[in-house]
This record gives sequence, C-alpha cells and structure tokens, in this order.
Amino acid sequence: MSQEQWTAVDSYTGKLLIPQDTTLERASRASREAGLPDVEVSPHQGKLLHLLTRIHGARTVLEIGTFSGYSTMWLARALPADGKLITIESGILFAKEAAAHIEEAGLAHLVDQRVGKALDVLPQLAAEGAGPFDLCFIDADKPGMPEYFRWALALSRPGSVIVVDNVVLGGSLVDSAGTDPAVDGARALHDMLAAEPRVSATTVQTVGAKGYDGFTLAVVGE
Ligand code: DHB
Ligand code: MG
Repeated sequence: MSQEQWTAVDSYTGKLLIPQDTTLERASRASREAGLPDVEVSPHQGKLLHLLTRIHGARTVLEIGTFSGYSTMWLARALPADGKLITIESGILFAKEAAAHIEEAGLAHLVDQRVGKALDVLPQLAAEGAGPFDLCFIDADKPGMPEYFRWALALSRPGSVIVVDNVVLGGSLVDSAGTDPAVDGARALHDMLAAEPRVSATTVQTVGAKGYDGFTLAVVGE
C-alpha cells in the first residue's frame, strides 16, 4: 500500500461523496495561494468532523487551532441556526485568512474567532463562563495536545465529545520518548487518557491524500 493508492482512493470516494467545487475547497485553494502550508484536514476528514457534529447533535463547538478556517467551516456547517463555534488561533495571519473564508462562506454569524495563545484564551473562556461545549476539536501545536485536552475536559459536560487530530504522526507515535516534541505530545495525551477515569477514548489510524495519521476520539463520562 502506498501514498499513491491512498490518494487515488480519496480521489475516487471524494468525487462521489464530497462536492469538489464547494466554498470550502475554494477556501483551501485560496489558502495555498496565500502561502499557507497544506496542513488542514483533508476533505474526507473535514466531512468526518461535520458528520460527527451532526450525529452528536452538537450545538456548541470549541476548536483549538483555527489555522485557515477549513475545519472550522466543516464544523460550523453542521451546526443549527442558533449554534455557536468558538475557535482559537495564535497566528494572526492565519486568523485573518480564516476570517475571510468564514465570512465568504456565510458562516460568520456562527463563529466566534479568538486570536491568542490557546493557553491564554482557554482560561479567559472559562472565566467568561463559556461552555460546556458539546464537541471540541483539537488541532493546534502538537506538544500542547495534553494541556489542550485538559482544558477541553474542563469546558465539557458528561456526553461531550473531544476529537484530537494528528495523534499518530505517520506512525511516530510508537517511537521512544524524547525523539520529537510532537511525538512526546501525542504520547503524553495517550498516557493521560489511560489514567483519566472521566473519559472513554479510542485512537483511529487514518490514511488518505494527506498521508498516514490518526484521530483520537473521546467521550466524557459522568
Ligand atoms: C501539521 C499540522 C497539522 O495540524 C496537520 O494536520 C498536519 C501537519 C504540521 O504542523 O506540520
Ligand atoms: Mg491537524
């Protein structure tokens, strides 16, 4: 099995199941033209986030790591008219790019963008009484994964769903500790989940146009 085949399968299923010329795909192309790296979730993964949000009937979503706003838009499109999504981004240029795409997609009324380091913004959200969020998507810097998960949990309720991107990192998840701060972040997240009685979680490996990686999915218990 090769990257070429994973890409071909994504292309085959994408053509059938995911409209190619949506506002979202235009936004993705615009992000590349603006020089942003190609690190958004893939269309298939974006649609997975969208479906999870709908399946869960989520009305409030927290996203940690807006980047270009691509996943933000997939999530926001799953919300009811009175839904609310708060998304946090520390990169000012990324946040500006995202704001333009979210506006163009007609989703600005659902999205509250917060610009700043997540570990500064999250305590502010808690102080404001924001949450609990029905669903949280964590897709920010990888060493921060465990700390962001702790905050997602603090801003959750029993039944909340927490999804974390990039937890397999091309399989490096099983490398020894100390090889790479991103790997250490993903490993520390798993250690934390193993010891956390309030959540039930699984990690699902994924392949596709954007390579080999995976999501952690967790539900918060009583
Ligand atoms: C990177 C970040 C991501 O969130 C991702 O999905 C893939 C790559 C990165 O920073 O390299
Ligand atoms: Mg990611």
